[in-house]
Amino acid sequence: MEITIKPVERVEGQIRVPGDKSISHRALLFSSLTENTVEIEGLLEAGDTLSTLNCLKQLGAEFEGDGEKLTVKGKGLRGFKEPDNVLDAGNSGTTARLLTGLLAGQPFHSTLTGDGSLRKRPMQRVTEPLKQMGASISGRHNGELLPLSIRGYDLLPINYTLPVASAQVKSALLIAALYSRGTSEIIDRYNTRDHTERVLRYLGADIKKLGKHHIILKSPVKLKGERFRIPGDISAAAFFIVAATLAPRGELYIEDVGINPSRTGILEVLQSMGAEISILNKREYNYEPVADLLVKGGRNLKGTEITGEMIPRVIDEIPVLAVAALFAEGETVIKGAAELRVKESDRLKSITLELQKMGALVEELPDGLIIQGSTKLSGARCESHGDHRIAMALATAALFAESESVINGIEAVQISFPGFFDMMSGLAS
Ligand code: S3P
Repeated sequence: MEITIKPVERVEGQIRVPGDKSISHRALLFSSLTENTVEIEGLLEAGDTLSTLNCLKQLGAEFEGDGEKLTVKGKGLRGFKEPDNVLDAGNSGTTARLLTGLLAGQPFHSTLTGDGSLRKRPMQRVTEPLKQMGASISGRHNGELLPLSIRGYDLLPINYTLPVASAQVKSALLIAALYSRGTSEIIDRYNTRDHTERVLRYLGADIKKLGKHHIILKSPVKLKGERFRIPGDISAAAFFIVAATLAPRGELYIEDVGINPSRTGILEVLQSMGAEISILNKREYNYEPVADLLVKGGRNLKGTEITGEMIPRVIDEIPVLAVAALFAEGETVIKGAAELRVKESDRLKSITLELQKMGALVEELPDGLIIQGSTKLSGARCESHGDHRIAMALATAALFAESESVINGIEAVQISFPGFFDMMSGLAS
């Protein structure tokens, strides 16, 4: 499926973006592990979260309701049953990796697979430490690739330093640690997103942080909770924040966005480039900070450097930050982002290739990008590479090209933001 995008001058209005994808996955999974009934409000209804929901259903979890509001009848940590078919994580790395951690603690056999993109993505980063905990896991390339066959049981606690900046790995190990007896310690030098730690604390687990990097979880525990309220996804808002910043005219109010500090790099980077973004009405839902955002257009941006500790805090926003950099004065350098090569597509390659089609001066580095600003983009025919964030980043760039663009493969946005194009066309003129 393709869409034609015309250049615009103004981005104006008030919106609410879909629920945070990371928190939605965790709300579904951890609610199923509680001893009671949990209401979830504001859930992301999209391909990735549906994958988590369907896998949990196959394991015996019970959900009632539809859409953004769901009730989960918790099964407790030991209430799941052996699935009678293969579990399919679809396109979702979060589903695959968090579920591998969960299945590692179950006293039965299961098989987990995913779509063509997910079957190419690295899994050894979770299977290797889970095997150290005592799980029996096999898969293609010595457990590196899906499909995986998993036979778990009571696990040993783990003391582990994350070798890659991955919240999915950290989360898989914290989930598996719930099935051990004793104290597990995880060192996350990268400060990856901490939604799992916050959810566990919210549900009453004995989890603490020592200093900036050291997470300590004591097991066994009983998880209990009543409700989750899920804020809007800052990674979905990012496309609109960039569009509103780049538009010569207009201002955009985005209600109810999660502003967890491990995710707000996009705001800080854009502000340092000269964007005008106000963070209003700060509040908290289930230990997650939330706010409304006001973004003003007509700003002149300057190029920047995005490296080091900032990278995990903008990891999903780099494609759209590359778009912002095209319209900034001077050069922008992004380094230390090799993880982008193993996302839904090789994002360094796909964004470079596609923005070059529009006439952008982008150079691909092994672990980043160099982007020359102040280029005039021409309309072009671009491809999503089957990657939702590439499709949305290209659509954002196309709004500010000199002529019409066509983006092909836009069905990919169903993965995280089914209403993306309708929302964009309602605001941009
Ligand atoms: C996610 C973690 C990140 C991120 C992904 C969602 C999560 O992946 O890119 O979109 O919900 O834990 P990694 O753990 O692979 O860095």
